[in-house]
Amino acid sequence: MRSVIDIMDLSVEEIDSLTETAESIIKDPAAFSDRCRGKKLATLFYEPSTRTRLSFEAAMYELGGQVIGFSEASNSSVAKGESVADTVRVVGCYADIIAMRHPKEGAPLVASRYSSVPVINAGDGGHNHPTQTLADLLTIKREKGGFDGLTVGLCGDLKFGRTVHSLISAMSRYKNVRFVMISPSELRIPDYVKINTLDKNRIPYTEVTDLESVIGELDVLYMTRVQKERFFNEADYIRLKDSYILTSEKLAGAKADLSVMHPLPRVNEISTDVDSDPRACYFKQVLYGKYMRMALILMLLGV
Ligand code: NCD
Repeated sequence: MRSVIDIMDLSVEEIDSLTETAESIIKDPAAFSDRCRGKKLATLFYEPSTRTRLSFEAAMYELGGQVIGFSEASNSSVAKGESVADTVRVVGCYADIIAMRHPKEGAPLVASRYSSVPVINAGDGGHNHPTQTLADLLTIKREKGGFDGLTVGLCGDLKFGRTVHSLISAMSRYKNVRFVMISPSELRIPDYVKINTLDKNRIPYTEVTDLESVIGELDVLYMTRVQKERFFNEADYIRLKDSYILTSEKLAGAKADLSVMHPLPRVNEISTDVDSDPRACYFKQVLYGKYMRMALILMLLGV
């Protein structure tokens, strides 16, 4: 029994194989429509989500499986005080695999220690979001042909943005990748990511506060939302929320083959006039996320 809590739980070879499976599904979805017949996915979402939960659910349905779960902790026994450990022990009696999102960092890891079925981390607090990274990796692979030698700009809330933390871990395993971190000084990448991933692997990176001065260097620009729900102080959120707004005008200074990505939901970070630019990839990311989740479910269920 195997869980995926951190993107580093998957080797580069396994990510390649998930990517291959996702590409086979894209080519011939009908060939996969029965693979999970008789299997159930439980989505345990203790924190709001549209994409991730529906993406997991659509993924399981498209594999011929079924879905149970809750989308709000207040709808479940958690409201009565049940622990994550007990909830997963119970849910393991009903489902073959669990996708869990939780506001507390580490909760899906704890769940995986008590669960009799695989647990997938669907986002834990400001920490990690490995299946968003799978979506991001398939997008980068299809847009750029591979990962080596890319200059990746990460822009916005790099402190609380869990998708950024997982993406940095995953990309740190490819050759000659360079990061340009663009954020207000209050929302810089956490030290643990710098020390444990960037410095440890000698990955070059720069930290800047201005997007326009670096946009021309980038192969990928990964925009993120300022994570309102992680702020202690509303005034700080209001001050920082519109730090970066990508517009068509700003894109004029970018490479012709830049890939603009965003895990969504978007608030104001990307102006809607960018949506029709061929460099905008964020809606493709959503679709690829479903195929990568299908591939991951197949892998973890061994079917
Ligand atoms: C992200 C998340 O939940 O971390 N959304 C998602 O899963 N695609 C990003 C965000 O909420 O800003």
